[in-house]
Amino acid sequence: MQTTTVLMQMRRLIQLIAQHNHAYYVMDQPTIQDSEYDQLFHQLKALEQEYPDLVQADSPINKVGGQALSKFESVVHHVPMLSLGNVFNQEELYAFARRLEERLPQQQIQYDVELKFDGLAISLWYENGVLTRAVTRGDGETGELITQNVKTIRNLPKVLSSDQIEIPSLLEVRGEVLMPKAGFNKLNAEQEAKGDKTFANPRNAAAGSLRQLDPQVAASRPLAFYAYGIAQCEPLHGLTTMSESLTWLNQLGFAIGELHYVCDSIEEVQQRYEEVQLKRPDLAIEIDGMVIKVDDLKQQQQLGFLSREPRWATAYKFPAVAALTTLEQIDWQVGRTGTLTPVARLTPVAVGGVTVSNVTLHNIGEIHRLDARVGDTVSVYRSGDVIPKVEKVWAELRLADQEYEIVNLPSHCPVCASPVVMPEGEALARCSGGLYCAAQRIEAIRHFVSRKAMDIEGLGDRWVESLLNLQLLDNVADIYHLQEHREQMLGIEKMGEKSLQNLLDAIENSKKTTLAAFIYALGIRGVGETTARMLANTFQTLDALKQADIESLKKTPDVGDITAEWIFDFFQAEHNIEVVDRLIAAGIHWDAPLAPTRQPLNGESWVITGTLSQLTRDEATQMLQALGARVSGSVSSKTKCLVAGEKAGSKLEKAEKLGIDTMNEEEFLVFIASHQA
Ligand code: IVH
Repeated sequence: MQTTTVLMQMRRLIQLIAQHNHAYYVMDQPTIQDSEYDQLFHQLKALEQEYPDLVQADSPINKVGGQALSKFESVVHHVPMLSLGNVFNQEELYAFARRLEERLPQQQIQYDVELKFDGLAISLWYENGVLTRAVTRGDGETGELITQNVKTIRNLPKVLSSDQIEIPSLLEVRGEVLMPKAGFNKLNAEQEAKGDKTFANPRNAAAGSLRQLDPQVAASRPLAFYAYGIAQCEPLHGLTTMSESLTWLNQLGFAIGELHYVCDSIEEVQQRYEEVQLKRPDLAIEIDGMVIKVDDLKQQQQLGFLSREPRWATAYKFPAVAALTTLEQIDWQVGRTGTLTPVARLTPVAVGGVTVSNVTLHNIGEIHRLDARVGDTVSVYRSGDVIPKVEKVWAELRLADQEYEIVNLPSHCPVCASPVVMPEGEALARCSGGLYCAAQRIEAIRHFVSRKAMDIEGLGDRWVESLLNLQLLDNVADIYHLQEHREQMLGIEKMGEKSLQNLLDAIENSKKTTLAAFIYALGIRGVGETTARMLANTFQTLDALKQADIESLKKTPDVGDITAEWIFDFFQAEHNIEVVDRLIAAGIHWDAPLAPTRQPLNGESWVITGTLSQLTRDEATQMLQALGARVSGSVSSKTKCLVAGEKAGSKLEKAEKLGIDTMNEEEFLVFIASHQA
């Protein structure tokens, strides 16, 4: 591979891993599956191994995950909290064992096999038997002090006592905080009843609960702690194996995994792993695999550590769960922005404890990639908490005497019957119904009334919904006929005479607008504010725009090939024309835009900065735009002039440095007045 390609790939991977670390460790909201994260990690690791000279300074390979949130005090771990390497199948497990054997020649190795708890790692300090601090793992080096919250965990000893064991003066216990499945289900039911957000899985629920700044809230959450290791002990405990350590911790009052084993061979480890996988659904807690550790502590010491993980242990992850079922039907759902999404209707099937009957297929490309046809047998995968996915289509299971029709994109929208369009190079198909399509109605109305469009203040979402329910709003043109339904509207909750009148006034006032705002309000795909203005300036009248062909649309500044097509398609659809004509018939009007010849600032780039006292930034922007200028957010050598209000800062400095013209507010107003004449 070329050096630049390797570098680019490394940078991309580092960036992706950093994003996911942030989502996982800081936000508690993982955006991808663990296995995908592992893959990114492995890809980067492999590249670094192959091209050691190119290893980037900020590579995460030798660091462990995210940063501590700032709201809790940060604490440096005396003994770093490392992570574990992974194996995913028997072959990789046996390779792990071979590596150990190579490093411990002629030695018997026993394995301690534990559950891999799917929660959050924490460190607990006991001084003379009293819990004095609890710290999250954080990035492995530094964590957050969450002692108050952790003290609310019921099954965790706050004071150690034991008949058999002398209490150490210092003990640091490592383990995992998690939410048992039953508690999780109950919590989510309560959250739902209260109208609060529910948690995607027990791990997120545990993380969210531990992060509560108010220990009262944490206390109300059914958390549990399971111990899996000792990081420090003074005086030394004298234990010689991992399995003994677990028993010792248990005797001190800590919960440990309900299943754990000592195995004499790696084959036995594999057997236990398969056994536990079968028991997994019946366990009280979520696990995402097993942890395999060398049992003998002296051997552990001999093996030591790689930079971010011990050599003497590995996680053995469970594969994602899959089930076979039948694809009964594919429905196309129309989203609020008109995108058509295929949804597979499946014969209901249990996948990892959840019944799955609807799964998104994303887009037509995915259907063709899978070659999914109605009647097919398909594999549905779900790994842990993740959204189920159709992973594979079993074409080899098709019956010779049965028809399996190839799935095609519908030619017409299932909601409004407008033609479906899919521009070249795009993955998503869309309904061209726009303003007319019921599925897109709310979004279209919301956009239509927004400030930069028709600016109808007071027609908020709640009222729009009520009006839709009363069937008073079929499309945006109906807004201008609402005054014919006063009586019905007064029936809407909280709609008094006065608020109704305000709303109707706002609607009436919106009728006087600009061509640019009107074009923008139509919500044509790809036509934002700037493009709408360019179209208004170029075509001058609505009729000219309606009749424009693709070639002339493309000549408009800001309009590329694809947008030109979208605009053209919009005005080809009869439904849209009908709505536009009704709007104009209802009295929407505007002054003719300044002819391009009367746009003295055509092609110039202006910047506005600081606080203006006599007009708003938006008004100033509109004035400049009406004269043909582009208003940009940053000063460059291409800037024609900077309008600097009060407290203008770095932009003014930069303009002066570059020798660019500047005006204060007074000068600007005089300038505008002289040009508007
Ligand atoms: S031992 C040096 N044992 O898995 C690290 N870890 O992927 C030794 N985990 O953050 C860790 N169950 O929090 C160990 N029985 C178990 C575990 C376990 C879950 C977590 C641990 C760590 C992560 C590593």
